[in-house]
Amino acid sequence: MLHMARLFVLFAFLLGMVSDAYAAGEILIGLAGPMTGDQSKLGGDIERGARLAIEEWNAKGGVLKKKIRLLVGDDQHDPKQAVSVANKMVNQGIIGMVGHFNSSASIPASSVYHRAGIPMITPASTNPKLTDQGFKNVFRVCGRDDQQGRVAADFAAKKLRVKKVAILHDKTTYGQGLADEFKKNLSRYASSGISVVYEGGLTQGERDFRGILIAVKAKAPELLYFGGIFPEGGLLARQAKEVGLTAPMMSGDGVIDPKFIEIAGAAAEGTYLTFTPDPEVLPQAKRFLTQYKAKHGNELAPYAIYAYDATNVLLTAIAGARQTKGDAVVGALRNLKYDGASGHIEFDQKGDVKESPYIVWITKGGKFETFWTPTP
Ligand code: ALA
Repeated sequence: MLHMARLFVLFAFLLGMVSDAYAAGEILIGLAGPMTGDQSKLGGDIERGARLAIEEWNAKGGVLKKKIRLLVGDDQHDPKQAVSVANKMVNQGIIGMVGHFNSSASIPASSVYHRAGIPMITPASTNPKLTDQGFKNVFRVCGRDDQQGRVAADFAAKKLRVKKVAILHDKTTYGQGLADEFKKNLSRYASSGISVVYEGGLTQGERDFRGILIAVKAKAPELLYFGGIFPEGGLLARQAKEVGLTAPMMSGDGVIDPKFIEIAGAAAEGTYLTFTPDPEVLPQAKRFLTQYKAKHGNELAPYAIYAYDATNVLLTAIAGARQTKGDAVVGALRNLKYDGASGHIEFDQKGDVKESPYIVWITKGGKFETFWTPTP
């Protein structure tokens, strides 16, 4: 019997039906993000989340009676690098992809997985385009920036009641996209006198934004909105105070990380950030948080829980499909109802999660605190 099974795998392999890894008795799952460089904390967070899920599955025997192995790729949040990582992953025979992290990486890489018919679930890419492309194999367990931008605009208009707003972004798919969604939603309040008094882009990787901040200050905004990630966000917050710009800053999920506070120092205080609710108060997140902290300490890792859920969702779909063929796994994902650590996961037609509530956080006493929840 065993002999027959081996023969079958050999034939299937020769026919190109299964990958080397599968024939070798393992299921290969890909994960990619910025593993090195200025955003490596974020790549590391999703790797740690995914590994925790895989360890749990492997402890119970793996999936389809095979051990699961994680293949990690470093896209350095660069679109070209992301495509090259995606091609490499596909060639190595991944069954599914957890990633990428940045929208600027996920969107170009998604074409590669789409051509190969491999399911891709991003834990963190929030730009609407990713799932608006109509690729059946693409999913996300996080929210979308049209939702996030709307909550930010509602907060600025209804809670802060500011009238003059400055908007900066890092010119990336995510950063500029989020800034645009914020601006678009802010325009719904134009009749109450809100206006954008400054709008501009900065270059990722640069370190001195004082010139642009002096120009912003001259427009006397009451709020500085930034679409981007924490390395630039942290410097902006610090340098804004240095040039005497006293307006509070507001940003999104790319900035809510302890590294932002580390870079900005005391200037981080009072910064508003949109993200999902605190997992510390979610009963379903308890087990994940306990295990994650036992392994990695108490440092906040906002997207680790999403990578943990994305990995569990992918493996649950493989188990449900009882095979590794892309179409079958994608089909299983489309029908999945899964209670994850971050909440209930069920995908809509586009591959977005049906529920993703954004709230507003504030930086206070060197920590992030829940601050404002929009009324539905
Ligand atoms: N949400 C961020 C992005 O989409 C991390 O790039």
